[in-house]
Amino acid sequence: MTQYQSFPGVNGASESLAKLKALRLPSFQGKRFLDVGCNEGFFCGYARFDGASEAIGIDKSRVAVSRAQVRFPDCRFFAQSWQQLPDGRFDVILLASALHYAEDQAALIHRLMDSLSDNGTLVLEMGIAPSGKSEWVSVKRSIDERLFPSRGKLAEILAEYAWKIVGYSVQQAGDPLSRYVVHVRRQRPFVFLLLESPGSGKTTLCRTLFAKAKVPVVSGDLTYRKLSGRQIPASEALASVICEDFSPQYDRVADKVLAQGLAGDLVEVWCRQGGGGEFALDSYVPEKYQQEVKAAFDERGYVPVVLNWEMEKSMSGPGDAAKKASRYAESLLDLTASQSTVAAFQVKRVSSPALAQFFSGWHLDQPVNGQLLTEHEGFTVSGWALPSDLNVEGVRCYVRLKGVTQVFKLEKRREDVVKLRLKDQPAVPETLAYCGFQFSGLRKDELPAGMEFGFIVNGEEMPAARVGISQCTPGKPSLSRKFLAGVGARLWRRR
Ligand SMILES: C[S@@+](CC[C@H](N)C(=O)[O-])C[C@H]1O[C@@H](n2cnc3c(N)ncnc32)[C@H](O)[C@@H]1O
Repeated sequence: MTQYQSFPGVNGASESLAKLKALRLPSFQGKRFLDVGCNEGFFCGYARFDGASEAIGIDKSRVAVSRAQVRFPDCRFFAQSWQQLPDGRFDVILLASALHYAEDQAALIHRLMDSLSDNGTLVLEMGIAPSGKSEWVSVKRSIDERLFPSRGKLAEILAEYAWKIVGYSVQQAGDPLSRYVVHVRRQRPFVFLLLESPGSGKTTLCRTLFAKAKVPVVSGDLTYRKLSGRQIPASEALASVICEDFSPQYDRVADKVLAQGLAGDLVEVWCRQGGGGEFALDSYVPEKYQQEVKAAFDERGYVPVVLNWEMEKSMSGPGDAAKKASRYAESLLDLTASQSTVAAFQVKRVSSPALAQFFSGWHLDQPVNGQLLTEHEGFTVSGWALPSDLNVEGVRCYVRLKGVTQVFKLEKRREDVVKLRLKDQPAVPETLAYCGFQFSGLRKDELPAGMEFGFIVNGEEMPAARVGISQCTPGKPSLSRKFLAGVGARLWRRR
């Protein structure tokens, strides 16, 4: 047998070490390797050296195989044709300088691909004929004449796989063709992962780019909603975490599910929703879980493509929004405390049996508890009152200010009140639509001691509300934080 491979002290026809460099083999750590047409086992030896769990070489030459076994006792070698391949699947398969010996080269490539693991790589080292057509070209060599594929023919054979010519290989003396290294992998569907936080434009991108490209989109929000109603299958662990206290705050749901270590279960559901082919996923995944999610897609045979883009987010996270809102509330308190020209009303309704008996309802629209009034604003009292007896007429209102009483009529039309309060009454007298009142023109500085508001029915006064006013003076803010936080009554008492 002519010496083909080169080892220290043995020069073969092939510069094996240079070829090894050109092959750009993937890392072998923990992988199964098969070398088809292994000769004296140079590459099997390398695979074990690089951490392969198993390295098997086959060659039809008994001499080559027996030499290989002596050189590399922890590899396994078989003297057999590539018509029959060893059992099992391999992570890396090498066919170097041998394809042209096969009777049916395309069939050999497909058989080798069938023996490859899902994520495996077939490494071909081969001559490619320089032709613009897709054809087999017969090439005379010093030792024989063989068929070599053109680039187009190779593309045709490899059409169903993902493949790449990674570069030139080392030339051998008398080579009529250039040699190339080609890496071939099983084509796996892409999953486009749009995992950015809410408001970053994921859904818009899906509606535009992916819709146009006819790539189906799986919506994370919709998946969570379906899972919350147990409308789609999922692991019990995932379903129960989602169903427990479900609320459609999907970023929180995502956080909760992933914090429970359920990335794999969730990815399983997404894959089913995706239908087994290529799809885009529109679902927020916090950054700390993104690697885990990517790995889970990888394990399920997908090529995960994470899409990142710079865009100002239109929405901050719920935690952020709440923090900012509280800071703003604080700043509002400071701002209001520094304003010296505003006044605040405190309205207290008086409850009396006479009022309750006479009116089915009444309301002061203005002033409102805590309402601020600027220096230039007039002070208005307005509202409505409906007597229990719908036929009663002649109800009046009054305001009493510094002992002076001003009386005014109910003469404003209030369809809204009639519609809301009297919708069930069979016959409502037309006059009752005029149940509203409005009294303007008072100045706030006329109210230092507060005002009384009430009704006059049959000449009898019925006090209905007391209205106080607290005025801020420069440098002496009287609007306390607590008041502004809603405890207006305190201010009233302080006055
Ligand atoms: C040019 S050598 C290449 C050796 C090795 N792959 C390398 O690149 O160093 C081709 C090898 O393929 C082997 N071979 C040829 N036809 C074969 C077949 N049908 N089955 C298995 N091995 C075969 C030969 O015995 C030879 O060792």
